Amino acid sequence: MKRVKKIIALVLCACMFTMLLSGCASVGNGKRIIRISHAQSESHPEHIGLLKFKEYIEENLGDKYEVQIYPNELLGGAQKAIELTQTGAIDFVVAGTANLETFADVYEIFSMPYLFTSEEAYHATMMDTEYMNNVYKSTDEAGFRVLTWYNAGSRSFYATKPIETPEDLKGLKIRVQQSPASIKMANAFGAAASPMSFGEVYTAIQQGVIDGAENNELALTNNKHGEVAKYYSYNRHQMVPDMLIGNLKFLNGLSDEELKIFEEAAALSTEVELEEWDDQVEEAKRIAEEEMGVQFIDVDVQLFKDAVSNVQQEMLDNNPSIQDLYDHIQEINKQYEEKEGN
Ligand code: GCU
Repeated sequence: MKRVKKIIALVLCACMFTMLLSGCASVGNGKRIIRISHAQSESHPEHIGLLKFKEYIEENLGDKYEVQIYPNELLGGAQKAIELTQTGAIDFVVAGTANLETFADVYEIFSMPYLFTSEEAYHATMMDTEYMNNVYKSTDEAGFRVLTWYNAGSRSFYATKPIETPEDLKGLKIRVQQSPASIKMANAFGAAASPMSFGEVYTAIQQGVIDGAENNELALTNNKHGEVAKYYSYNRHQMVPDMLIGNLKFLNGLSDEELKIFEEAAALSTEVELEEWDDQVEEAKRIAEEEMGVQFIDVDVQLFKDAVSNVQQEMLDNNPSIQDLYDHIQEINKQYEEKEGN
């Protein structure tokens, strides 16, 4: 499977390279092809959200654009695909914020453990488009900009052995995303952080290179990690969004009307993705438990919070760029805590 993926990726890259050299990213019918890369399968909420993006753009600008979606890391893992978006070899990519940290360090904030105190506060923060648009501009210098966010649930640890308390993480090799803040986060829990791309995780667990990873429930089913890691502990250390990122030159080249359509398409894709997410996460839990034999463990979350209680302040001290967003999120956290208290 990996070989087939590699061959497809090579062929696609060769085609794109030829097209770039000849200066035409279009097909015979004269339409400009828009390529979007992502890391998930075709049944994942993000792919379904992107189908809406494609549909809306083609409905409104179909005489000019054709949207092509490449799932399953076909064009490479997140970091590679971001580079392709940066150079304009492709136009859009969906990637988690951990992959953006090296381009704009404000994105480190999402790696902070227990940043959001409720799912409501997380969603309200991300839905505050006016505020987030300023954050989204932070990668302009790198040549790309975030257009919208997708829900990727909350992340917890899962492994080949049960993790009941932070003590159980000691010495375990846990895969994390390839970002300095993700590494720090896992090490702070006492685990041995092992950064690698998402597509490598299944085999790494299977071959015993790592003991586990941390992710949402869909990783167990959609990415089949539940076949090789049978214990999922609900410690919920992060809520990390995925981002739809566009090549800035491409976005700047659109007319005002076209840009508006792209923005509307992005907002619609988020709406669809969020609904899909809620449905699929329930189903993923059922499938993981009943069909894959994964055991879900309800841990004492406070123990996990205590284990990393210094990390938020340490991250703030090391990176002033996250302070403003941090304060903003604390206000939103508070609003939802007050609501719950009433
Ligand atoms: C989730 C998330 C991806 C991320 C992946 C990972 O699937 O949606 O954006 O890349 O986790 O852990 O690498």
